[in-house]
Amino acid sequence: MYNKKSVPPSDDRRWKFVQNIMKKYGYSRDSLIEVLHTVQEYFGYIDGDAIKFVAESLKIPYSKVYGVVTFYHFFTLKPQGDHNCVVCTGTACHIKGAGGIISKIEKKFGIREGETTSDGKLSLLTARCLGVCSMAPVIVADGEMMGNISEEKLDEIMNRW
Ligand code: FES
Repeated sequence: MYNKKSVPPSDDRRWKFVQNIMKKYGYSRDSLIEVLHTVQEYFGYIDGDAIKFVAESLKIPYSKVYGVVTFYHFFTLKPQGDHNCVVCTGTACHIKGAGGIISKIEKKFGIREGETTSDGKLSLLTARCLGVCSMAPVIVADGEMMGNISEEKLDEIMNRW
């Protein structure tokens, strides 16, 4: 049985997806890599609080989870860019123009999804459905979830970066 006392690091709803993945695997320790991939995908990095949460939830020592995060090059402990943007590419967001959002950011900043600008200013990430499909298209900009992203809204957000 998992540790019911383990509380997500914040009320950011992306933790729900991480919890759902852990639940799907019955909070098995064997799901560690899969769970860490989910954290990395949704947040772009796995910091100490995230490690603590995953470790407590799966009842694995913190040091072991930390060791796994630092061992594999595809996990990162810190946000790569000063800013990060996660674009939802779930079905609803895809239909409502997620592809256009990604291309616009890629074009303006000269990066592809999954990359960080060479000056370290922005990291562009994508994630599966963020669970707020009625607000599609949805992005998470510097941890803030925003929906109904229009061209103008996107321009305004990009100008902050
Ligand atoms: S598909 Fe984007 S929030 Fe569901």
